[in-house]
Amino acid sequence: MKFITSLALLATATTITASPVQKIFNLVSSGASDESRNGLYLSTQHEDPLNSKAVFREKSDAADFYFVNGTVRWDAPNGAPYAIALISGSNVQGDVGISVSPTTGSEGFSLTSGKELKTDNGDFGGWLVCPGDGDVQGLFYENSSVGDDVPQGCETVQLDAVYKTSS
Ligand SMILES: *[C@@H]1O[C@H](CO)[C@@H](O)[C@H](O)[C@H]1NC(C)=O
Ligand SMILES: *[C@@H]1O[C@H](CO)[C@@H](O)[C@H](O)[C@H]1NC(C)=O
Repeated sequence: MKFITSLALLATATTITASPVQKIFNLVSSGASDESRNGLYLSTQHEDPLNSKAVFREKSDAADFYFVNGTVRWDAPNGAPYAIALISGSNVQGDVGISVSPTTGSEGFSLTSGKELKTDNGDFGGWLVCPGDGDVQGLFYENSSVGDDVPQGCETVQLDAVYKTSS
């Protein structure tokens, strides 16, 4: 009997491993010349009940993202769906918000074959890591219709999707 139980457990474990990969991913910075700005995990910083800022934190505090129709979603702890938005403004250093959807999420996001997060927004000139509020590093985007100089204190980075494996 014990043997059969073990087999059953083994079968269950195998089924879990073989089930389709959940399309949940973390977004991780790479490509900065300042090594301390690579390998940072995108997370959220509360601003008000509807809006959060996009900031980088440790892996243990990473936000779990998923795609819906070209928007990048994140579920708040209370289950509300938030979405990443390129906030329109007049600075080269554009703000990135993570706000309650569907009102504010930007569309047109996709992953390249290298799993880099891109957007088809024509103003998008790349992702920036810049000092944020307090001692966190914030995520911003370069608005190329305003300029193409990397703002002081910022660095251009890639955001790479790292899919979470079931464990
Ligand atoms: C995604 O887009 C399709 C086609 O426009 C639409 O029918 C569907 O409801 C959308 N899904 C969500 C979750 O918004
Ligand atoms: C970029 O800047 C222009 C000019 O200020 C602005 O109209 C546009 O909305 C900005 N782009 C984005 C994606 O916000």
